[in-house]
Amino acid sequence: MFRRNSYGVDGRNAPVTRTILIAGAHGQVGQHITEQLGESEHTARAMVRDDSQTDEVADLGGEPVVADLTADVDHAVEGCDVIIFAAGSGGEDVYGVDRDGAINLIDAASEAGVDRFVMLSSTGADDPEAGPDALEDYLTAKAEADEYLRQSGLDYTIVRPGELTNDSGVGTIEIGEDIGLDAGDIPREDVARTLVATLDYDALIGETFEILSGDEPIGEALEWFCSQ
Ligand SMILES: NC(=O)c1ccc[n+]([C@@H]2O[C@H](COP(=O)([O-])OP(=O)(O)OC[C@H]3O[C@@H](n4cnc5c(N)ncnc54)[C@H](OP(=O)(O)O)[C@@H]3O)[C@@H](O)[C@H]2O)c1
Repeated sequence: MFRRNSYGVDGRNAPVTRTILIAGAHGQVGQHITEQLGESEHTARAMVRDDSQTDEVADLGGEPVVADLTADVDHAVEGCDVIIFAAGSGGEDVYGVDRDGAINLIDAASEAGVDRFVMLSSTGADDPEAGPDALEDYLTAKAEADEYLRQSGLDYTIVRPGELTNDSGVGTIEIGEDIGLDAGDIPREDVARTLVATLDYDALIGETFEILSGDEPIGEALEWFCSQ
């Protein structure tokens, strides 16, 4: 069974304003999340690692905070109810950022008593050795961060999209536990919408799922997954 909850960002539920930290807010997915949350009743705390990025995320509706995942992040996490992790090394330092940076934020979230942690992961992270050699370290780093989150005691949801595109979002997806690494792609805007929409469903706490472009409206796809 699923039920929507007070995190709803579409105004249909009793609004409870939450402070939601977006790690990687200046990234391509992160900017969509910042904009979507900036239009909601919630506070979008937009974590960037460079002062020069603050105006841009503020224009999207975020409240900027400067922090680096490889350093102290306590000030960014303080007072947050929810964290959405949308950061990534872009392949430059997968163990330092995609794994250890995520772990650093998970630890800070645990210490600060954050209610919920949503992780942007990747298809293929369930079996890094099965993917292309070029992606093995990245997928291993993502898998280890995901596993650390599972063991953290935090209320988590792990979302694993296929290849990301910059096409305009259409608001529909395919969802499943194991769709596969090469099965297709998905616009970043729809990934952002899905990450934000997970907060509407308590039944997604403790769940890991994959998403691609598809035909189901995001809310209906999540409800279907919850009802399984
Ligand atoms: N590409 C794909 O096809 C694909 C598929 C599935 C999943 N994913 C996952 O989706 C994630 C987001 O994708 P995207 O396209 O939005 O990536 P992106 O545009 O490269 O954004 C990543 C963001 O993370 C930030 N970041 C990097 N290192 C950081 C650090 N040490 N501390 C704080 N922030 C840091 C970057 O900051 P700067 O702006 O300062 O560089 C950037 O804003 C990827 O990282 C990947 O894990 C990607």
